[in-house]
Amino acid sequence: MSSILKQRKVIVTGGPTREWLDPVRFLSNPSSGKMGIALAREAHKRAQETVFIHGPIHSSSLVEVPCRRVPIESTANLLTAVLEELQDNAVLIMSAAPADYTPVEKSPIKMKKTGSELVLTLTRTPDILKNVYDRRTSGTWNNIFVAGFAAETTNVEEYALGKLKNKGLDMICCNDVSREGAGFGTDTNIITIFTGSGSKIELPILSKTEVASRILDQVEAELGGVR
Ligand code: CTP
Repeated sequence: MSSILKQRKVIVTGGPTREWLDPVRFLSNPSSGKMGIALAREAHKRAQETVFIHGPIHSSSLVEVPCRRVPIESTANLLTAVLEELQDNAVLIMSAAPADYTPVEKSPIKMKKTGSELVLTLTRTPDILKNVYDRRTSGTWNNIFVAGFAAETTNVEEYALGKLKNKGLDMICCNDVSREGAGFGTDTNIITIFTGSGSKIELPILSKTEVASRILDQVEAELGGVR
């Protein structure tokens, strides 16, 4: 059966970002990009066009991604790439795990050890979804659909619903990363989807491939399509 996504471009983000301190050290997180890869593969089967914007991910996993890929490093790079790819009627699925802070000073040369402690001053990186929300509200694009993720360890539902509202999302996929089978780097995930229209869909533990398929089914349902 034909997918409503056949008329849409899907932009999937995945993996971590890196915020460099000096040429040999960075701040990051353990995101493997597996959820993003699964989403990009599934979107490629359904959408008119799919692009996967990704942070540093093992090249062996990237060969599994059949669509166009845009590699990025920092959260600022990710914002630029997302804004470049977004267009009217696009679907954005933000499964990337961007670093929320970046060093105020980046040393052009390797920092040498000094005292027994090192104090770093960090500054906030841009919130990509918030940026998209602000531009969407001011009419930059028509008819886009935006899905976010929420990786939490406590108060999962409360925080996810807060992000759905504050980031102006159409859908949020939340998971408790402290649960077995739902953490970073696993091949499975346990997701609950909340939609802007008020639905709550609790998925059982599933492979990330199956989770991606269920998420895209829900995107299509929200867009009003029938599979
Ligand atoms: N996100 C984003 N820009 C950032 C950080 C996160 O767009 N600078 C997106 C993520 O891709 C995800 C959603 O926001 O879709 C929620 O990310 P998460 O890390 O759970 O939450 P944060 O917004 O970073 O908030 P906190 O770390 O305080 O929970």
